[in-house]
Amino acid sequence: MRILGIETSCDETSIAIVEDGVRVLSNVIATSKASFAGTTGVIPEEAARKQVECILPVLHASLADARITQERIDAIAVTRGPGLLGSLLVGTVTARALAALWKKPLVGVHHTLGHLSSVWLEADPAPSFPSLTLSASGGHTELWLRTGHTDGVLLGATRDDAAGEAFDKGASLLGLPYPGGPSISRAGASGNPEAFAFPMPLEGAPGFDFSFSGLKTSLKYTLRDVGPEESEKKKRDLAASFEYAICRHLLSRIERALKAHSDVCEAHVVGGASANTRLRAMLSKLGRPVRFPTKISYCTDNAAMIASAGYFLIKERGEKACTAFETTASLPQEALAF
Ligand code: KG4
Ligand code: ZN
Repeated sequence: MRILGIETSCDETSIAIVEDGVRVLSNVIATSKASFAGTTGVIPEEAARKQVECILPVLHASLADARITQERIDAIAVTRGPGLLGSLLVGTVTARALAALWKKPLVGVHHTLGHLSSVWLEADPAPSFPSLTLSASGGHTELWLRTGHTDGVLLGATRDDAAGEAFDKGASLLGLPYPGGPSISRAGASGNPEAFAFPMPLEGAPGFDFSFSGLKTSLKYTLRDVGPEESEKKKRDLAASFEYAICRHLLSRIERALKAHSDVCEAHVVGGASANTRLRAMLSKLGRPVRFPTKISYCTDNAAMIASAGYFLIKERGEKACTAFETTASLPQEALAF
């Protein structure tokens, strides 16, 4: 079954064609990130305007890359939320029009379910359940115990900022460009991660929740104390220490959950923050099987993961997966599918 996926929840415009949820025939991603490098984040109206301009060229490029025409597409899957409303509308209006025109079933996908499915893309051997999945991006940070593609429980979530958001806000404080994750990694690559001791969030608190706003505040006060004449070396050390503190917190929750759920076969780490090299290095020392999406382009927002989630929704839910849906900026986790 070939699914055409559309993802436009933030500043990316992405269209992919994926076979049986796993084989990626094309995954075209256009992004307006570069135009927000000098700001602290995405400007919603500007992102949506760019998406209107590039959605059709991206569609044509995706069909051309996959070397197929619409007759060989079996269904369309689109991100229905959560995200920026204007951006989501560009994707869902396009998906609704294509579904009507081409007479194909249409599946609305929760953005997070897309991230959860992303480890299946081009994975050999295929991942297995039960799995523990950390999904950490700019909009959410959650720990899931999953027993199937559309079955699982939320063990914990962030109480304030998301992990990617912490990277973005930290980068802004350090005077580094958006998106913060890659720029903090670059700046901190040659820094000392133990030069500055950031507090461990929710230390001593039971459970699997996360919190990142304290780390951001701590960075703000550390910068104030270091003073405006901080050297390049200090900046590198600060970036490395801040990154290390975020990764330590993420790792601590995975470790705790793996101890509490000994039947879990493997841990999955997905979402923009799963591209982080320091996090990957720390997780490799866990002594348990840990999987990441097989490409960095499957970690950050992309349509292949939406097509994959659409496939598994149809496989596990049948026609129910194709019921009418609303395009919604804030979509609760209960709407994920489980
Ligand atoms: O999953 P994603 O593309 O979009 C959302 O669903 O939010 O994640 C974007 C977030 C941004 O906050 C960005 O700073 C972060 O992921 N990110 C990273 C890295 N690459 C992107 N964080 C840490 N390290 C990275 N290499
Ligand atoms: Zn995302």
